[in-house]
Amino acid sequence: MCGIVGYIGYEQAAPLLLKGLEKLEYRGYDSAGIAVYDGSGLEIYKSKGRLKILSDMIEGGAKVKGTVGIGHTRWATHGEPSDINSHPQVSDSGRFAVVHNGIIENYMSLKEYLINHGVEFVSETDTEVIAQLFEYYYDGDMLDTMLKVLAKVEGSYAIGVISQEHPDELLAVRKDSPLIVGIGEGENFIASDIPAILSHTRDIYRLEDNEIVALKADSITVYNMEKEVVSKTPFHVDWDVSSAEKGGYEHFMFKEIMEQPEAIRKTISPRLKNGKIVLDDVSLSKEDLEKISKIVVLACGSAYHVGMNAKYILEKIARIPVEVDLASEFRYRDPIIDESVLVLVISQSGETADTLAALREAKRLGARVISIVNVVGSSIANDSDDVLYTWAGPEIAVATTKAYSTQLAVVYLLALYLGEKRNTITTEQLERYVKGLENLPNQIQEILEHQETIQYLASQYFNSRDIFFIGRNLDYSMSLEGSLKLKEISYIHSEAYAAGELKHGTISLIEDGTLVVSLATQDMLFDKMMSNVKEVKARGAVVLGLTTEKHKEIEKTADHVFYIPSTEDILLPSLAVVPLQLFAYYVASMKGCDIDKPRNLAKSVTVE
Ligand code: M6R
Repeated sequence: MCGIVGYIGYEQAAPLLLKGLEKLEYRGYDSAGIAVYDGSGLEIYKSKGRLKILSDMIEGGAKVKGTVGIGHTRWATHGEPSDINSHPQVSDSGRFAVVHNGIIENYMSLKEYLINHGVEFVSETDTEVIAQLFEYYYDGDMLDTMLKVLAKVEGSYAIGVISQEHPDELLAVRKDSPLIVGIGEGENFIASDIPAILSHTRDIYRLEDNEIVALKADSITVYNMEKEVVSKTPFHVDWDVSSAEKGGYEHFMFKEIMEQPEAIRKTISPRLKNGKIVLDDVSLSKEDLEKISKIVVLACGSAYHVGMNAKYILEKIARIPVEVDLASEFRYRDPIIDESVLVLVISQSGETADTLAALREAKRLGARVISIVNVVGSSIANDSDDVLYTWAGPEIAVATTKAYSTQLAVVYLLALYLGEKRNTITTEQLERYVKGLENLPNQIQEILEHQETIQYLASQYFNSRDIFFIGRNLDYSMSLEGSLKLKEISYIHSEAYAAGELKHGTISLIEDGTLVVSLATQDMLFDKMMSNVKEVKARGAVVLGLTTEKHKEIEKTADHVFYIPSTEDILLPSLAVVPLQLFAYYVASMKGCDIDKPRNLAKSVTVE
């Protein structure tokens, strides 16, 4: 998704903006640009494609002089990726330059209005409307002009503006799109995310919706829409720069896979006290707990797969009916929701537009919302009644790994918490699950130490045309995740099926040599899974079995086997996902794919 960086201070802005944009590349983009005030006017450089093209064009920034500027990486929504549609967008006269993340929903009518008043547009973007409105309404005061522009636009936005009329000022605003302010000495920053400015400052303000910030080199003033000054409390970022970078690994995805034991430890240990689950972050009273009639999980992509696991886990442990919805579908199916429904929203970024919209709809219908989110202060976190943060740290690779694993860990905590409060599990069961949970990081570490086995298997199949994943129950959810991981980064066609469903059609796709990854971790379903494995073998499939150490008999049927350690059945997805992530990673790596930034995908999908 688009990334914004802005700078005002004493350093040369262009190289700094390029470096900041580099740190936002993980969000996905198709073009990039910067605007810098050079002492007499605004210098604009933009280019379709990778940031490197822009950087080469301006000699790493050396070609552009000036100490105030804004930069942008664009992920096209209105208008194709092109130089002209890239941001910054500039007003008719060239006096105002704007970067924008989000969508201006009423841009067509605004554009028509401006055209009728003689304004000439050059791009197909909704963003150009903002730049032209600045020109149209400019009255000598940037803040007043901003307020007039905002009164006209509808939609979601994080906006940064500079003007040659006020070169000592950078203005920004947000609504439904993330934006932070970096606090420096004699210099200040705006950015879509922390890594963009972390090498310059660790003190940050998070802008809330409808807050406007006016930056000068030596001051930061935040206003509300009534033009009143808002007092903000900064927060200090305590993770180091290297944790937002690759830390010696070739790809962020691999680094993040390796970070999973630690991320899970950080997520669960503050919430486990003397064998009990302590969720201080959840404010459900005894009455609230009693009145829950069902849980509805809302999420997208991998977070949705966590939701599918959550259905099995919550129903088994807390004995509450659970529905799982793709957030993008939820709003359009007239859902049956009232005050007795607990909605569980799952999102790494906390900014996924579909998930945010579904959350708001659920709240409008009266539900209470608990969210599982990785990004503190994100929109989904802000709009939820309670937030259970995953402490996974920044996740940069587009393919989620450690966020997925920590989301799942939080699902276990929540299920056990509800189970204990509702007396649906015994003390003995709780103790066993808690022990199992505490042991997960070590067991994951053990799997990671066998990464060469997966690497070898990947080397045998990275040229496959199609790869299938099958499983039952929790193994079915895991199949969906394994398949998504593989296809998103390796571009190999892949399908995931509930193993019992194969015979209802999909089995016709199995040919001689088709790889079928067969998940058979659940004791209760092992024999049934073996029947399904035999079915695909009989049609010529090559089978890679994934099971626990106690099911050695799988070797009689499968061509290859990867064993994971044993634990409680409901905890096995946390272990099973790791070889699936590694398999996808190695296959993509052997195919030479752009692993951290797969084509057409964005890390944070902030458009519906
Ligand atoms: O930030 P979110 O967890 O809300 O993102 C949801 C999906 O976009 C995300 O999980 C996506 O499917 C990942 N690329 C999967 O690896």
